[in-house]
Amino acid sequence: MAKKRPSLSVRHVFWFGSKLVIFASTVICVFALLKFLSQSKLQSSIALSRRSRSLGDHFQGPPKIAFLFLARRNLPLDFLWGSFFQNADVANFSIYVHSEPGLVFDRSTTRSAFFYGRQLRKSIQVAWGESSMIAAERLLFEAALEDPANQRFVLLSESCVPLYNFSHIYNYVMSSPRSFVDSFLDVKEDRYNSKMSPIIPKEKWRKGSQWITLVRRHAEVVVDDELIFSVFKRFCKRRPPVEDSKGKQNLKLQKQHNCIPDEHYVQTLLAMSDLEDELERRALTYTLWNKSMTKMERKGWHPITFSYANAGPPQIKKIKDINHVYYETEYRTEWCRNNSTFAPCFLFARKFSRGAAMRLLSEGVVGPFDAAALLNTHL
Ligand SMILES: *[C@@H]1O[C@H](CO)[C@@H](O)[C@H](O)[C@H]1NC(C)=O
Ligand SMILES: *[C@@H]1O[C@H](CO)[C@@H](O)[C@H](O)[C@H]1NC(C)=O
Ligand SMILES: *[C@@H]1O[C@H](CO)[C@@H](O)[C@H](O)[C@H]1NC(C)=O
Ligand SMILES: *[C@@H]1O[C@H](CO)[C@@H](O)[C@H](O)[C@H]1NC(C)=O
Ligand SMILES: *[C@@H]1O[C@H](CO)[C@@H](O)[C@H](O)[C@H]1NC(C)=O
Repeated sequence: MAKKRPSLSVRHVFWFGSKLVIFASTVICVFALLKFLSQSKLQSSIALSRRSRSLGDHFQGPPKIAFLFLARRNLPLDFLWGSFFQNADVANFSIYVHSEPGLVFDRSTTRSAFFYGRQLRKSIQVAWGESSMIAAERLLFEAALEDPANQRFVLLSESCVPLYNFSHIYNYVMSSPRSFVDSFLDVKEDRYNSKMSPIIPKEKWRKGSQWITLVRRHAEVVVDDELIFSVFKRFCKRRPPVEDSKGKQNLKLQKQHNCIPDEHYVQTLLAMSDLEDELERRALTYTLWNKSMTKMERKGWHPITFSYANAGPPQIKKIKDINHVYYETEYRTEWCRNNSTFAPCFLFARKFSRGAAMRLLSEGVVGPFDAAALLNTHL
């Protein structure tokens, strides 16, 4: 009896153990199968979206410009853009808006029917100056790539205005096979974080304005990138501003590396993809910087907002007459071109107040001014 008991319990343990092994391997198999299925589903959905996108690479038919608006909330200058699109062919453009999640553009939130329902389905909460901003940009490009007719992609802020009528802008942008990306070497500032190396080598680090215009192929590069984006998410972070309430903690916070993702991401990605010779390395959107600050404040240069008073014909003409841009850090003068012909540099400008935009409208900048139509927009 005494002999049997251990042998029984050994058998029992063996029986239990083998059941456990079978159970565990079944669980592992099911798990692996599920993972495989979800991965292949993900991969096939990626492949599907790539396939539908690549249809656009050989698109026949009138090409469209996709206007991509990155907004905090509403579009305060919708009345001016509405008038701009009024003078366009609906077959020649499309509109996408990334705004607060849940905000729907309809009669109650915008004065221009062109924006109705044009918000992205999956917009995210954006913290200005952080990587969620470039995530939002990527969502805009991704949504716009679904339409194979979209061949140029213009990224705009809520305070950007057009400086010409639609057909002028359309011809200018379409006649160039290149993207317009303000991009230069960033030698004075120390935004590059050495932890990005070796994935992003220092010599590929670029800076430039966020407000870019891309050809379809380059928009695809931005949407398909996971690697550079993930490095930016980890190592390119904005240093928080000094807050008195934080006292001593400020010192620690101010020692953090400071980087503004939206001023570096696309520029660096395109440099890393060896696509710089397919760019006009300058912006289409004019920004007037306030340089009247002291040297100490210089790091925080701010764009000047145009008001009704300084958006008159002489000021607008001055912007339109600019035909070159000087890049100090590279000693490079960029003579502005539209394809191979010399052309004025800027098609858009920021930042414009409502009053300034109203003035453009009444001066007929985007098309013939119709006061009666304006009254109907209930400004
Ligand atoms: C657009 O503006 C150009 C001048 O820049 C003018 O020649 C053209 O007639 C205008 N087109 C429309 C449709 O208003
Ligand atoms: C619309 O696109 C067609 C084809 O590209 C072009 O001929 C036409 O001038 C465009 N219309 C406007 C208003 O830009
Ligand atoms: C841009 O180039 C096209 C042809 O290459 C030309 O028809 C158009 O007038 C140009 N636009 C400007 C603003 O120079
Ligand atoms: C750009 O210019 C080149 C050379 O002048 C010309 O062959 C080409 O057709 C132009 N592209 C467009 C889109 O107008
Ligand atoms: C430029 O910046 C200075 C200093 O911050 C400020 O006093 C001034 O009002 C700004 N100018 C404009 C036109 O915004």
